[in-house]
Amino acid sequence: MNILIKNADIITCNASDDVLQGAFLGIKDGYIDFIDTKEDALKDFKADRIIDAKGKLVMPGLVNAHTHSGMTILRNFANDLALEDWLFGNVLPVEEKLTPEDIYWGTLLGIAEMIKSGTTTFADMYLHMEEVARAVSETGIRANLCRSPLKDSDKSVEDAVRCFEYFKKWDNSFNGRIKVYIEVHSVYLFDEPSLRMSAEVAKEINTGIHIHMQETLKECEDSNKKYGMSPAEICCKTGIFDVPVIAAHCVHLSDGDMGIIRDKGVNVIHNPTSNLKLGSGIAKVDDMLKNGINVALGTDGAASNNNLNMFEEMHLAALIHKGVHMDPTLIGASCALKMATVNGAKALGFGGEIGEISKGMKADLILIDMDKTHLCPVNDPVSAVVYSAQSSDVDTVIIDGNIVMENRELKTIDEEKVKFNVKEIAKRVLR
Ligand code: NI
Repeated sequence: MNILIKNADIITCNASDDVLQGAFLGIKDGYIDFIDTKEDALKDFKADRIIDAKGKLVMPGLVNAHTHSGMTILRNFANDLALEDWLFGNVLPVEEKLTPEDIYWGTLLGIAEMIKSGTTTFADMYLHMEEVARAVSETGIRANLCRSPLKDSDKSVEDAVRCFEYFKKWDNSFNGRIKVYIEVHSVYLFDEPSLRMSAEVAKEINTGIHIHMQETLKECEDSNKKYGMSPAEICCKTGIFDVPVIAAHCVHLSDGDMGIIRDKGVNVIHNPTSNLKLGSGIAKVDDMLKNGINVALGTDGAASNNNLNMFEEMHLAALIHKGVHMDPTLIGASCALKMATVNGAKALGFGGEIGEISKGMKADLILIDMDKTHLCPVNDPVSAVVYSAQSSDVDTVIIDGNIVMENRELKTIDEEKVKFNVKEIAKRVLR
């Protein structure tokens, strides 16, 4: 379908940070065909749909670079606990009761929430990933999915063959909307041989790895006891960092760890809400960016956030580092927005395809209704998005050239049915 968006104010997130006013944007076969402020540009363009964006702002869809979307089932369960008690004492026992069908519905709820809050791409690490892929394929969202090579809680890598099968079945499927990486949950749930094997599996199929990294001080201390080195050091030694890596958290990095992550081109995912809620600490994002490290943003799962709202993550990311360092010039609005768009695209292996609004990029974009009291007057669109906008201001969402939400109505998800099913699942597993 060819879509013409007219009268659009556009935040492009391109290299020159262009913000356009009253522009025309054409989408053809899923790609951005043209962007122009002159009406001449559309004379040869035959639109099947015309969207009048007057009063709305067009920007790239947000990239939630680290989440566990099926964890929506555990939303608002086990709060105000330290990570180890939260994870091992509360979350894992409930997760053992979750069936593949449960994960399907929980993921659909997560995807519905993400689309309604402007997220068009996410990176997911969770259980029963076959069901996650099914939910992604049906809803039209874009995702980087990963599968663990470990056989249940056993640390042997007997499941590697299932990683190959999952990769073969889903990677680059649905017009390239799905990308498949290998899951290495963390260095505390893996051991040295399984880290090595995971790296080998990723290299063999030429893909990347998604890992939780140096989230808490305890994780770093335990790693020193277990391996005699930091998580970053053991990942470097075992080959984990020889492939593209999505490293969630990186809250506690020594200068040495920071150097490894920079030199190995590891992508860091900053999860400010989750890190604050679990009392893990605050990542040195400013230092990472100054070191040239690619930093993206994520919500983490709904059990430690407790929503999947990237507007909140941008807002927090732009605020907390100013406060911690008593320096209001750190992580400006444009920087926070880029972490949630272009940097996220790059981190998830979709760099050059999505994350900015430029001719030739895939059409993943959102329209924000700016005719709101809390957005009046807009003055500076980028600051408005990061500091004033609410996720509920997202009006229309286009992914891969398809309209998946219009006037806040989801086109690919039966929201009421999904909410009903997830409430039933929660009643069963949380009692
Ligand atoms: Ni996580």
